[in-house]
Amino acid sequence: MSIYEKLRLFKKRLTIFGERLIKIKFLNSMTAVHLFGSFNSTMTFLVPTKVQCYQMMCEMKMMDHIVVHSMQVCRVATYLTDYLVGEHTHLNANMIRSAALLHDITKTRSFNTGEDHALTGSQFLTDRGYPEVGDLVRQHVVLDEYAASKIPAEAEIINYADKRVLHDEIVDLDRRLDYILERYAKKAEHRKRIYLLWEKTKHLENRIFSDLPFSPENINQILNAEDRLVDLAEYQRVCHLDSDSEVV
Ligand SMILES: [Fe+2]
Repeated sequence: MSIYEKLRLFKKRLTIFGERLIKIKFLNSMTAVHLFGSFNSTMTFLVPTKVQCYQMMCEMKMMDHIVVHSMQVCRVATYLTDYLVGEHTHLNANMIRSAALLHDITKTRSFNTGEDHALTGSQFLTDRGYPEVGDLVRQHVVLDEYAASKIPAEAEIINYADKRVLHDEIVDLDRRLDYILERYAKKAEHRKRIYLLWEKTKHLENRIFSDLPFSPENINQILNAEDRLVDLAEYQRVCHLDSDSEVV
């Protein structure tokens, strides 16, 4: 077992241990999060900076609309994290930002190769020395587990944020579901699988928003009105693209 896998396992066991202590009422949830969560967030994982994320996105020749989509997913994930991190100090905000920007890092290539972009995106990042970020990317389509815990995990935030962005637009879960059904539900079994996944995602949404001072619908209004040009201009600068390039 690699050192990374050992750390991951240790982190998971620590979270489960904390949750058990809450269950038997040995600790209240805030104390547990402070004791165990703070430890998780201080574990130093290598995380690429925003500029390094942009450099990898250019290197992988990401299609313009996937770049814009990834920036929107990052906007949703960051907005949620900014609120959640106050109470859930175990969340690593830098890791969430990087994983959101990079979650579709191999998707453009997958159109030619047919590869599973969640798996190869994860491998790409592991090879670059970012296995923890890769682990979040691997779970952006389907989570390893849909826990009933009230303590949100980084992977859940990335997974949920991706399901709130249709192309470059922030939408509600139902609208995204309609699109996925139309595009991927070719057979009855596909349809069944998608509905099941969506049910789990709805539960996830309820859990994420249970302590937030705004509703899932509010995110559309707040973030769709934001100016995206600043991030796009920075991306163009890093990638040495013309300012009249398609991406804007
Ligand atoms: Fe995506």
